[in-house]
Amino acid sequence: MIHIENLHKKFGRNPVLEGVELSIAGSGIHAILGPNGSGKTTLIKSILGMVCPDRGSIHLDGTPIRGEWAYRNRMGYLPQIAEFPSNLAVAELFRMIADLRQQEGQAWPLIERFGLQPFMDKKLGTLSGGTRQKVNLVLTFMFDAPLYILDEPTSGLDPRAMIALKTLIRERKSSGALFLITTHIMPLVEELADNVIYLLEGRVYFEGSLEQLYHHTGENHVEPAIAAIAEQTHV
Ligand SMILES: Nc1ncnc2c1ncn2[C@@H]1O[C@H](COP(=O)(O)OP(=O)(O)OP(=O)(O)O)[C@@H](O)[C@H]1O
Ligand SMILES: [Mg+2]
Repeated sequence: MIHIENLHKKFGRNPVLEGVELSIAGSGIHAILGPNGSGKTTLIKSILGMVCPDRGSIHLDGTPIRGEWAYRNRMGYLPQIAEFPSNLAVAELFRMIADLRQQEGQAWPLIERFGLQPFMDKKLGTLSGGTRQKVNLVLTFMFDAPLYILDEPTSGLDPRAMIALKTLIRERKSSGALFLITTHIMPLVEELADNVIYLLEGRVYFEGSLEQLYHHTGENHVEPAIAAIAEQTHV
């Protein structure tokens, strides 16, 4: 479904992606891991057409994405940092997004899952960080999509919301959706991921199942396994 070849991106003199090769097919949950600044968000934004790569190609379902826009309607995207208009109320934002997409969407069941009912009339600028993240999650999941790209989806979430999110991801996965998720929360990877992609120095340094990751590192949990890879590459 997603095929990335030889992707390069520099910001000024800073080479961030230096020949990323990646092929992801079918459904399932793919965790994109890597240290801060390793290019996870840049890679995701390249797939979304929000960053323009210097070299290389990205194909979605066999079609190059360069210059295309319509494919984005088939994706649910959760940005790492969401910018909301601060004077808008939560309910107004959901309305506005449904109007822009010209689709009703299914916000209400998600509002209930994340316990956002008391906040519907509150201005976005007055919300706590975790509550903003719940709003961000409702926006991402209110339209059914075959592909969800989630950049640090758990940031600021309390345990109840964390459970609600994991349940939601599992449900959409079992209906056939494909997920790309970046996170620094290794227990989340252990619970959810089918496949791990570890970015380092602009390339995919490791890709494989959790079993392959454990085999590769001699560890039996994600956190020490990823720490072992980071350690190996530190020399
Ligand atoms: N718009 C930009 N302009 C200049 N440099 C940028 C821009 N976006 C990202 N970078 C740089 O590219 C590098 C990779 O950033 P990116 O946000 O992709 O990392 P990340 O792996 O998502 O990190 P984190 O784990 O902190 O979210 C960093 O050095 C960052 O400073
Ligand atoms: Mg990032």
